[in-house]
Amino acid sequence: MSESIGKGLFRIDAEGKVAGKTLYPGDIDIEGQLWLKMKFSDRVHARILSVDTRQAEEVPGVVRVFTAADVPVNEYGLVYRDQPVICGPGSEKPGTDVVRCLADVVAVVVAETQEIAAQAVKLVTVKYEDLPAIHDPEAALNNQLQLHPDYLSNTICHYKTRYGDIDDGWAKADVVVEGEFQTGYQEHAYLQPEAGLSYLDEEGRVTVIVAGQWVHEDQDQIFHALDLPAEQARVIYPAVGGAFGGREDMSVQIVLALATWTLKRPVKTIWSREESILYHHKRHPIKIRAKWGATRDGMITAVEATLIGDAGAYNYTTNKVLGNAHLMTCGPYYVPNAHLDTYGVVTNNIPCGAFRGFGAPQAAFAAENMMNRLAHALNMDPVELRLKNVLRDGVEYITGTPHPPGVTMPQVIEECARQSDYWDETETGWRKRPNILSTDPNMKRGVGFAAAYKNIGYSFGFPEQCWATIEIHGKADIERVVVRAAGAEVGQGSHTAFVQMTAQAVGVPVEKVELIGHDTAETNTSGSASASRMTYMMGNAIRGAAEQALQHWNDEERPAIATYQYRPPRTSPFDPQTGEAMPNFAYGYVAEAAEVEVDIETGLIRLVRVVCADDVGKAINPINIEGQIEGAIVQAQGYALLENLVVKDGQILNPFLSTYLIPTVFDIPTEVKSVILEIPSAEGPWGARGMAEMPFIPLAPAIAAAVYDAVGVWITQIPMTPDVVVRELRKHGVGAS
Ligand code: MOS
Repeated sequence: MSESIGKGLFRIDAEGKVAGKTLYPGDIDIEGQLWLKMKFSDRVHARILSVDTRQAEEVPGVVRVFTAADVPVNEYGLVYRDQPVICGPGSEKPGTDVVRCLADVVAVVVAETQEIAAQAVKLVTVKYEDLPAIHDPEAALNNQLQLHPDYLSNTICHYKTRYGDIDDGWAKADVVVEGEFQTGYQEHAYLQPEAGLSYLDEEGRVTVIVAGQWVHEDQDQIFHALDLPAEQARVIYPAVGGAFGGREDMSVQIVLALATWTLKRPVKTIWSREESILYHHKRHPIKIRAKWGATRDGMITAVEATLIGDAGAYNYTTNKVLGNAHLMTCGPYYVPNAHLDTYGVVTNNIPCGAFRGFGAPQAAFAAENMMNRLAHALNMDPVELRLKNVLRDGVEYITGTPHPPGVTMPQVIEECARQSDYWDETETGWRKRPNILSTDPNMKRGVGFAAAYKNIGYSFGFPEQCWATIEIHGKADIERVVVRAAGAEVGQGSHTAFVQMTAQAVGVPVEKVELIGHDTAETNTSGSASASRMTYMMGNAIRGAAEQALQHWNDEERPAIATYQYRPPRTSPFDPQTGEAMPNFAYGYVAEAAEVEVDIETGLIRLVRVVCADDVGKAINPINIEGQIEGAIVQAQGYALLENLVVKDGQILNPFLSTYLIPTVFDIPTEVKSVILEIPSAEGPWGARGMAEMPFIPLAPAIAAAVYDAVGVWITQIPMTPDVVVRELRKHGVGAS
């Protein structure tokens, strides 16, 4: 039997996508479909006194205008159902007559054509009574003005770590460094804006064709809001044009289902790019104040930090994202004494939620910056200092528990340094080589280093699970294997990995495997394609199902079918007073070296080269992993250097890809060197860990360290756009004024 995993097989979705044949939700039409257009709030915080739909309804071709009164259970939300589907008077649920941000929906117009729907939506008139708004999360934190009735205060989450003896930690510190950091919003900028098509299927189920990250979760949100039995709602994903966390929450799903269920007709909608940028959630901006202490010989003694994250108007995944950020506040290091507070705060800004790394990039920007500052303060090599303090197997973290066995952070840091060609391993430890000098005196080169880890799975006590079904068809020999696996293919290559893992587990070539997925009517739930978990969770589910199906096959059952639910080891949430926890069942480890060139005249930072080492446990498909690394680096480069969402008083001022700049081929590094380590994790399928988010996390702090290495100035805000950099350079007397 030849191996099916560990090979860089072409993706099963490659041909259709490359040839332009693949259909995304916006490409699909049904005879007789209506078109839907959403009217969003005109105010950041206001009570809606009335919504007048009469003028819109009089437009020929308008079929129906939906308002709050039409939504059976007017609430939704991934963690808490804290947002009305449609805001306005007439709902049973109290508080749904208030808009709390510009992303709230106030009416939904359904018409015979797209043009009529767009025209009519402008004729919906809303009377508002303005309410006082808060846009600064620090101002919201202790404000008496309560912005959301579902929460006891504006603080929707507060995580506390009280670990060790913080006074003792400061007493033992010979060197103390302090910093204040502000990270920015980030727009997911997936290729395909939100779109969907709903209809009644042959069994009368309200069926929504859409792009998301978890078909069964979308289904749950739909049947809850429509007050239907679960089996009356169905969700199908055709191709998904990117997600990155941005499709974890609802966009068009519920209103499409509402329209079809009410009108008994197919309904379609497509958001423009502008609508996509304005109305789906963003990465959380987080303010971080940190203070780190160490002994003269480089052992960390204490960390104190406060993190304040802007949730925007609703929770989305804020409490989870900030929990993750909180966990990452001390980096991948042993910290004997820690005193940490993390707050997620509601404001009247655009909601924030999941985005690749899930809070880890923000925390790492501060933590790794503090490590690099400590290295300078101690006159130690940054790699050497990291290795002195790095978490190892059995070493307790600030949660009071060690990471699960297979803590490979030391190996990953060393391998990154070794393969970077920027460091030498000497008898006295790792030493960075001198920088290449530029011939242009205005161009300064520098190299920076950062490391991180990422939890695989949601964890913190969440009841994690994943289902797979394997069907083995044939008579004497296996002719065909069907795997039913719901897990979303969001562009990361998961479906190809599912097929490879099925082939491996059953012992057939990949050509014999057929995947049925992306449909709640055909599969059991597998959880979301997020938290770098899909390959890990589905691999274990597939292994379990394959083992049982093969037993049935040997017992002469034809076809031999088995369904298996994988449940990983239990985890626990933070203790509310101390932060003690067994937060996760698995981690992946990553380290990066970044080389930059800083133009001290203009403040422009050019990312020249990145070396990224990831311990993925087992590379199920090495080419896909390289793709993930390169993609994450470029996305993180945009985050770190370019992507500047301008928000004023809760309003996004640049909802265009012409003014919100993401990296193009002219910006990307000359080289991204992927270093893939395969040190198996105990629980992972074939040892695999998961890796989709990891390469994103350390890039911004590695760039900040490289900039310091080049010009001797710390940049403490994201994005590090030229105006920010040039201001800091001049403040420190660097470059012409
Ligand atoms: Mo993700 S940010 O875990 O979808």
